[in-house]
Amino acid sequence: AKNVGILAMDIYFPPNCVLQEELETHDGVSKGKYTIGLGQESMAFCTEVEDVISMSLTVVKSLLKNYNIDPKCIGRLEVGSETVIDKSKSIKTWLMQIFEESGNTDIEGVDSSNACYGGTAALFNCVNWVESNSWDGRYGLVVCTDSAVYAEGPARPTGGAAAIAMLIGPNAPISFESKYRGSHMAHVYDFYKPDLASEYPVVDGKLSQTCYLMALDSCYNVFCKKYEKNEGKQFSIFDADYVVFHSPYNKLVQKSFARLYYNDFLRNCSTVDEESREKLAPYAGLSSEESYQSRDLEKASQQVAKNLYDSKVQPTTLIPKQVGNMYTASLYAALASIIHNRHETLAGQRIVMFSYGSGLTSTMFSFKINEGQHPFSLLNIANIMDVSKKLKARHVVPPKKFVETLKLMEHRYGAKDFVTSQDTSLLSAGTYYLTHVDSMYRRFYDVK
Ligand code: ACO
Repeated sequence: AKNVGILAMDIYFPPNCVLQEELETHDGVSKGKYTIGLGQESMAFCTEVEDVISMSLTVVKSLLKNYNIDPKCIGRLEVGSETVIDKSKSIKTWLMQIFEESGNTDIEGVDSSNACYGGTAALFNCVNWVESNSWDGRYGLVVCTDSAVYAEGPARPTGGAAAIAMLIGPNAPISFESKYRGSHMAHVYDFYKPDLASEYPVVDGKLSQTCYLMALDSCYNVFCKKYEKNEGKQFSIFDADYVVFHSPYNKLVQKSFARLYYNDFLRNCSTVDEESREKLAPYAGLSSEESYQSRDLEKASQQVAKNLYDSKVQPTTLIPKQVGNMYTASLYAALASIIHNRHETLAGQRIVMFSYGSGLTSTMFSFKINEGQHPFSLLNIANIMDVSKKLKARHVVPPKKFVETLKLMEHRYGAKDFVTSQDTSLLSAGTYYLTHVDSMYRRFYDVK
């Protein structure tokens, strides 16, 4: 199979959101802390009628319907998620209901999990399958689904929720340049979920930021080396038309792009202009440890990379800023943002992706883009995702109500024997929702 990659995409996020500006006032923090400090605009969240299972059912059903895909044509289904509802039964098995109806139970794949990286692991599994000897000619399907919620405190505004589905096959408009993958994996305690009675992670926010940037450096280094070995010339960020980052919050994305430019400076890339060289020169001799701590370097590199950020990164930030951290779905929501913003001019371009999951696992990889053919064309993908309409249709909830919802969900997490409000007034037609959980913890869903 040639040009294996993403043929089609769909995205779902809950219709409820809280504005970061209102959350700043509610939390009593200084004005601008979440909107400028973190760079976030609003945050989606699940109410008691939605969860990662319902969102994944909604998005898979929607993708199959919108692209007119026969469920029998799916041969592999992989889910990435870090939101634990069951420690054994995979979310994938829930999704099988959709395929059983058509008589298709011959579908490989289960769930992958390691923080925000599970979606990338799921995507690689599907792509590798299509490129392998065991491929039977059918499509792969990848689902990233997460609800990111944090305990009260500085991490809470970095939550979010969404599910994304991606159809995988040959001759894709978004195809992998498989030769250039660079990974960095290590053991750290930066963000983890050891308390099985709570949905909230234990997080060392500062450490997670440094780990993210170290992983970025390491992946970029391997990625560049592989590119240079293959192409016989140096890689710099000018060889990427867009750079898409896993986005826990936008500020980290701004810092990350600047970090890549600093790497290009250290690698002595000819693409780094004279003015930038002068501004970055004082930081050339820093040890890598010092470079992660230097506020001055952070500021100087962001300043010199500002114009490049505006053209190569800013168009990827729409959904992550509006919906928040969607964990496994965050990186692919950023990809969806460029397709939404730039589908008319993407053909022939290269998109570099950086996936990060705490703990930690990370990979940098790249896509080559072409128009594609209907229904798998960039234009059709943009039309079907209909991002503007979905964002506009959302309902802004006051912070007080958001906090009450999270309180209720704390009680519901791991609980049995309850019935939900079944209030579906905000859900659009075709959305799955949770109706009740019985005395044996079995969950029941319905479709609006
Ligand atoms: N106006 C403008 N900016 C402000 C204001 C203000 N009023 N107040 C603060 N800021 C800035 C700070 O200067 C800082 O910016 P900087 O990083 O450029 O210096 C930023 O806002 C954040 O403020 P801090 O006080 O440094 O950090 P805080 O205690 O609020 O915590 C953190 C932020 C660590 C990101 C926290 O939200 C967190 O732990 N989140 C979860 C962990 C996470 O997302 N990690 C990322 C990778 S791992 C993953 O994906 C889960």
